[in-house]
Amino acid sequence: MAGLNPAFERLQGNYLFAEVRRRVDAQAQADPSADIISMGIGDVSQPLVPAVLDALRKAVDEMGDAATFRGYGPEQGYAFLREAVVRHDFAPRGVALSPDEIFISDGAKCDIGNIQELFAPGAVVALTDPVYPVYLDSNLMAGRGAGPDGIILLPCVAENNFAPALPGRRPDIIYLCCPNNPTGTALSRDELARWVDYARREEAVILFDAAYEAFISDPAVPHSIYEIPGALDVALEFRSFSKTAGFTGLRCAYAVIPHGVRGRASDGSLRPLHPMWARRQSTKYNGCPYIVQRAAEAVYTPEAQSALADVLAVYRRNAQAIRRTLAGCGLRVFGGEHSPYVWVKTPDGMLSWDFFDMLLRRAGVVCTPGQGFGPSGEGYARFTAFASEEHTARAMERLSSLF
Ligand code: MLT
Repeated sequence: MAGLNPAFERLQGNYLFAEVRRRVDAQAQADPSADIISMGIGDVSQPLVPAVLDALRKAVDEMGDAATFRGYGPEQGYAFLREAVVRHDFAPRGVALSPDEIFISDGAKCDIGNIQELFAPGAVVALTDPVYPVYLDSNLMAGRGAGPDGIILLPCVAENNFAPALPGRRPDIIYLCCPNNPTGTALSRDELARWVDYARREEAVILFDAAYEAFISDPAVPHSIYEIPGALDVALEFRSFSKTAGFTGLRCAYAVIPHGVRGRASDGSLRPLHPMWARRQSTKYNGCPYIVQRAAEAVYTPEAQSALADVLAVYRRNAQAIRRTLAGCGLRVFGGEHSPYVWVKTPDGMLSWDFFDMLLRRAGVVCTPGQGFGPSGEGYARFTAFASEEHTARAMERLSSLF
């Protein structure tokens, strides 16, 4: 028989959101009349906006006409979208990127899961804890973190205001997510600058997940790590159209791989990551569909931007309602101000999966247990603001009467 990758034996039994779904399905079977409201996985509820739909339809028609039909596209993404990204997401913030530093993909989850392939098998990884499980699992699958050096976990808890301390020993790769999934908190400009300085000093690479930047409500909080001087030499950034434009089903995202970011090759020389990622993508990926890239381009039109502001306002109101209700129930709440996620301390030291089960059984409300995001998530739970306003209001009524 073929030998199997032993690294898989070190993974948690189920991917976090698959386990949440398993428990929800079991509850729905046990009580078919239960009206279960999901505030678990961060999946959006508001439909695509009209300008995006128009672009999608137009692109579909192009695909049906021999004169405009497109086959394989460029693996890195069409220039029209890469140029739009640079023009709208970075230039207004004073960040000088060139379109060839942008790699379009079908999701930030894939990008952030795949990017670790560029680093040495023995690279030391530092993760904030709790953390989006993909960072950890993708490194475990690649065999990292098995030896005594393991993975460096940087606790982010109420006691340190969810701001990770610098590691006690040197990592090669540092994952930062801001605004953070799952805690919903954001790092200040000074805190981010401390990380950029650290990475420069220690010759580490920062993998910066900015999937939730559109939710930032304080102009002092940076939207991109490249707003910090020196970051273009040490950080890669990951962005997504999923949460900002409702693309969780359509699938489009991008990775920024600046030419200046380098790592150490086996001969000791410093080499840029950009050609390696280009090589990796062109070998394993044929590009995000043309019609989806046209839809993503339309996100930047004034019509779409104005409609999307209304969509984001729905999620922001939901986050405020969740914060207000749960705080009113006597729970300690965090996040939700620059993020669609509200992070809640469970009452009386309750374990987070027990809290999850209680809410599911007694209120038909699904949250995500904090422990699933790492050891420092124990004793917390995450609520997403991505449900409809009606569902959020109904869930909050039920929770108010539960506590
Ligand atoms: C989450 O709930 O953490 C996210 O929706 C997961 C994802 O974006 O893959």
